[in-house]
Amino acid sequence: MNDFRYVNGRLHCAGVALDSIADAVGTPFYCYSHETLTRHYRAFHEGFRDVPHVIAFSVKALSNLSVLRLLGSMGCGADVVSGGELYRALEAGIPAERIVYSGVGKTRDELEYALRTGTLMFNVESSEELAALAEAAARLGVVAPVSLRVNPDVDPKTHKYIATGLRESKFGIAIDLARESYARAASMKSVRIVGVDCHIGSQLTDLAPIRDALSRLERLIGELRADGHAVTHLDIGGGLGISYDDEAPPHPTEYARAVLETVSHLNLTLVMEPGRVIVGNAGVLVTRLLYRKRQGDKRFLIVDAGMNDLIRPSLYDSFHEIRPVRETAAPRTVADVVGPVCESGDFLARDRAMADDLERGELLAVMSAGAYGFAMASNYNSRPRAAEVLVRDDRFAVVRRRETYEDLVGPERVEVDP
Ligand code: LLP
Repeated sequence: MNDFRYVNGRLHCAGVALDSIADAVGTPFYCYSHETLTRHYRAFHEGFRDVPHVIAFSVKALSNLSVLRLLGSMGCGADVVSGGELYRALEAGIPAERIVYSGVGKTRDELEYALRTGTLMFNVESSEELAALAEAAARLGVVAPVSLRVNPDVDPKTHKYIATGLRESKFGIAIDLARESYARAASMKSVRIVGVDCHIGSQLTDLAPIRDALSRLERLIGELRADGHAVTHLDIGGGLGISYDDEAPPHPTEYARAVLETVSHLNLTLVMEPGRVIVGNAGVLVTRLLYRKRQGDKRFLIVDAGMNDLIRPSLYDSFHEIRPVRETAAPRTVADVVGPVCESGDFLARDRAMADDLERGELLAVMSAGAYGFAMASNYNSRPRAAEVLVRDDRFAVVRRRETYEDLVGPERVEVDP
């Protein structure tokens, strides 16, 4: 579901025409819908209404401060995977007791930073990390709330780069070693066991692997409790997919039902880390058509956004619908929509039926770009990163200004050349 639709032949986000934003801020820009963000958060929250829960939005999906502030103001927490994300979440006013710290490679500085802020829990991914966390907590004279990220060895049936719950992935502690690791944690004075954590992958469109993982966790939690551990929290990770093309992922309510069926009898506080499902379809990337050309048998539409702005098509071969901002019913022929970056892997769409009447200077909207869009943008080819805009009703606000050339070189203005 999204709030991008044509009104009088112009693609709008809620009450604002995307071309009017382009006139004001230039291109490319990311545009997010306040209404969609709000609705998606509420849909998720509704599903889990009847059980104690913390929705910890996965900051990696879309880290803009204004978006975090909006979600935080509705009661949302944060799932962070770096000191930088923790800093953002706190800056956005999300209280530490609604922040969980995940990630396979937390540094000593990051552990100490999070311990000082008092985050809800650390999702620990290895015995060595557990030892490092215990040491850091002891140094600071605090007790670290811990859940171990368990790798349940299930196939989430998604792109191999974003499947995380298989035994051969770098994530988590193998489920058959989990009891041993919990016993070790229980023996550490500066660590307090609070829960179990699991995340099997992203863009999941099928409930079966989720159910499978949860029933393995349910069994484990029974064993841990029998071993005398006080497990009060279950973090089920994120991963619920969205529709980019013709996928039909479960609705958050169905997802919630499946989760609750398996684990509600355990009387836990549930933590979830949704990212994409909240923000994916709440955002688009608007880009301008620079040039058209034919080469060999191919038709190319060269636009001013590239793989540095949206890397998903290049990295995962992922599909993003591309809509002209000016509505057109012209016949369509196949084209590659490519960016200005000097790589053949720089494309937003390949072999895509695109209207024949697209003119130079026209705007195109790359749909479903709210998640892992701007968040994965880079300055490759020394391209300043795009502006980000948030639309609410018939108004819009620039929530991140476009970067300047000075932003590119500022950190390199050093005193001494070696
Ligand atoms: N929790 C953990 C521990 C994660 O690793 C992730 C995503 C999430 C939560 C949020 O997952 P979500 O609800 O957004 O699926 N860049 C890729 C996706 C990478 C996902 C990484 N981890 C993409 O563009 O598809």
